[in-house]
Amino acid sequence: MAGSGTAHLRDERCGPVLRAEHLMVEFPTRRGRVHAVSDVSIDLVDGETLGIVGESGCGKSTIAKAIMRVPPPDSGRVLLGDTDLAATGAVGMRDVRSRLQMVFQDPVASLNPRHRIGEIVTEPLTVRWLESFRRSPVIRLWERYVPAMLRWWRHPLVRRLATVALVAFLAGLMIWVVATAAGPERAGGTRDGGIAGTAGNAVMLGSLAAVAPIAAMFAATTVAWLGLVALIPLSAVPRWVRIRRGRRRFREEAGEKVRRVLEDVGIDPGTALDRRPHEFSGGQAQRISLARALITEPEVIICDEPVSALDVSVQAQVLNLLKDLKDKYGISLIFIAHDLAVVKNISDRVVVMYLGKICEVASPDDLFARPHHPYTRVLVNAIPVPDPAIDPRAAPTTNGEIPSPLDPPSGCRFRTRCPQARPRCAREEPEIQRTAPGRYVACHYPATDPDPAGAPRPEARGVT
Ligand SMILES: Nc1ncnc2c1ncn2[C@@H]1O[C@H](COP(=O)(O)OP(=O)(O)OP(=O)(O)O)[C@@H](O)[C@H]1O
Ligand code: SF4
Ligand SMILES: [Mg+2]
Repeated sequence: MAGSGTAHLRDERCGPVLRAEHLMVEFPTRRGRVHAVSDVSIDLVDGETLGIVGESGCGKSTIAKAIMRVPPPDSGRVLLGDTDLAATGAVGMRDVRSRLQMVFQDPVASLNPRHRIGEIVTEPLTVRWLESFRRSPVIRLWERYVPAMLRWWRHPLVRRLATVALVAFLAGLMIWVVATAAGPERAGGTRDGGIAGTAGNAVMLGSLAAVAPIAAMFAATTVAWLGLVALIPLSAVPRWVRIRRGRRRFREEAGEKVRRVLEDVGIDPGTALDRRPHEFSGGQAQRISLARALITEPEVIICDEPVSALDVSVQAQVLNLLKDLKDKYGISLIFIAHDLAVVKNISDRVVVMYLGKICEVASPDDLFARPHHPYTRVLVNAIPVPDPAIDPRAAPTTNGEIPSPLDPPSGCRFRTRCPQARPRCAREEPEIQRTAPGRYVACHYPATDPDPAGAPRPEARGVT
């Protein structure tokens, strides 16, 4: 697999609630750049659950984080409804975050251990409530000015000019010191540096002149910064008074809502509100994480392996709960997992990924019954079959280890492990193409026959 393209994305007119296009995330490391996500596009319509599946390290969590902009992708865009997240400033992102929530893999680690459950679940509401009070112009200026100032100071040209000027100044100083020390003594005890001393002086003066604009800018920004710091406490007073006045009412309303949401996720608020996360089991903690995500009534929740850390019976409970909550709250879900059976259970559509690229997009039934992509076939066949008549060795498998994301293979990224790889696969990267209604595959030679050999029916694999 290892395909690019957007053939699987729906028309803009369908109005997807979330759309991510051409996402690219690379991590610079000492050994090179990790190609974590390379040109991946996904969309999600209202009320849909999109499953993302793939083996460990294929970039599932990186996609989720790129959508949430923690950190932002290196390139590509994310649209939440009509809002382009890249064009949304820090203040706008606070509003976006209440519309777009995330649930993490490790439920206990994702909850602040020092806070009580009541505080944890109320926090997103508190942030949103505080945001509803308009900040003073001084604070708004501060919020714009400080990042702009930091960007200016970190600009490569400024840093380069400052470094060159510093080196030149030190060199000029050294020349002047050496020339003066070695020069003839004048009357009065001073020494004459001659031409070299004058040249050293000139270099020092030149370097100071070169950094003069930077120094002036630094002085101006520092003065502006100090001025804003002095004004902020005064300008914040009216907002603070309004917050104090509305606090009691907010607490009552938020408390009621927190209790209701905790009940919806199956946690008794009477006993839970004053306890801390470590006092709960993994399943209970994941329910609390869900409550925290639901409290702002988001449009989309991204669940990054929300059941991987739970035992099988608790997994089933949490999955059923997610389905119920999705209907009740009218949310759309991105559900990330490495377990195909779990993804099949909950998803309306499944995206299969390998080494930072999409390989197949299909409905879960189609995907299990007739995997078109060689990698999907391998994944489906890796699910243990509770039937002694089926020989696991007859199923297609991959060759070798997963390649390094530091240096992914040319052409199709799956080619080094693909049982069907041919010379073209090394030369050309496959584009995502439509192979059947609602089915998209990134492979030059997709297995579009109705019943691929060695792929037992999903029911035979205990997947229903
Ligand atoms: N901060 C980082 N710095 C360098 N490399 C990173 C960083 N975060 C992730 N990676 C690399 O990016 C690739 C994708 O990681 P990611 O966490 O998205 O995988 P995943 O599909 O979520 O895996 P898992 O199923 O194990 O959670 C991996 O090769 C990982 O090592
Ligand atoms: S057949 Fe070629 S293009 Fe298709 S998955 Fe295998 S290596 Fe990739
Ligand atoms: Mg992950």
